[in-house]
Amino acid sequence: MRRKIILAALSVAVAALVGPAAAQQPIVIKFSHVVAPDTPKGKGALKFQELAEKYTGGKVKVEVYPNSQLYKDKEEVEALQLGAVQMLAPSLAKFGPLGVKEFEVFDLPFILPDKAALGRVTKGKVGKDLLAKLEPKGIKGLAYWDNGFKIMTGNRPMHKVADFQGMKMRIQSSKVLEAEMRALGAIPQVLAFSEVYQAMQTGVVDGNENTPSNCYTQKMHEVQKHATISNHGYIGYAVIVNKKFWDGLPSDIRQQLEKAMDEATDYSNGIAQKENDEAIEAMKKAGTTTFYELTPAEKAEWMKALQPVTDEMSSRVGKNLIAEFEKEAKGSTN
Ligand code: LMR
Repeated sequence: MRRKIILAALSVAVAALVGPAAAQQPIVIKFSHVVAPDTPKGKGALKFQELAEKYTGGKVKVEVYPNSQLYKDKEEVEALQLGAVQMLAPSLAKFGPLGVKEFEVFDLPFILPDKAALGRVTKGKVGKDLLAKLEPKGIKGLAYWDNGFKIMTGNRPMHKVADFQGMKMRIQSSKVLEAEMRALGAIPQVLAFSEVYQAMQTGVVDGNENTPSNCYTQKMHEVQKHATISNHGYIGYAVIVNKKFWDGLPSDIRQQLEKAMDEATDYSNGIAQKENDEAIEAMKKAGTTTFYELTPAEKAEWMKALQPVTDEMSSRVGKNLIAEFEKEAKGSTN
């Protein structure tokens, strides 16, 4: 796969070299992602494509590749760094394995009380500082895109913490998510997003945590008997670009693309909640999965079981960062 990425990057570099001869050729932005087109991220990418091409008068062409068509989870960031693709919107959990562990703060269980808190964090100092940490990796962060709070799905009911005992639960590659599943008594299994449905179908995993829109568009309800609406964690994205590519753009083009990105961000963030609500309704209607909502007492039990994860991870993620994050999330100014 690395060879494939390098070859793709080389062909982009060659195209740049012959660029002056073909001055009329549009600048191509390959935007790769792992989810379905019919998700908040998928729709956001298409909105950016539409606006970027419109505002640049066709000087930029955006090619969107959904559903891990080009690269799976781990490979896509490497492909961006090598210049084989120019734009991605990986989930925030994907930056820990890249060495920017601070992003794992978003994965801590129950760290975000609601969407308003999310907005305060991503638009505030913590959000900006985190994006800046990507620059030494050759990556520029342009925006945060929302998805939503996670549900648990499985082949058995998950009401109490004890219900997770021994369940094999798919997670994204993240030390925090690993600790979270272990704290519940489950066995975490790291798998690429594109492999989850089949792993559920064949019993390689018993369940997973994900947003309703991701579960629905991957048809997980076809192969999962139970789901718990737990809102125990969050999935969102950072839209990122290859920094060298971005900084090398003519400044008028870059400004038009920034405008397109601002508007695509508002659009994607504006539809995320509705997309997830509708996904839950659609899965309920399919009738193949029993949905359960935690009672306040059950939620309290989950929170108690998961609190040690934050304590255990604080030296890794950063004690001060967690405190700052929680302060911004609460909206307190002192
Ligand atoms: C996952 O791997 O479960 C998600 O991060 C996929 C995504 O990009 O929403």
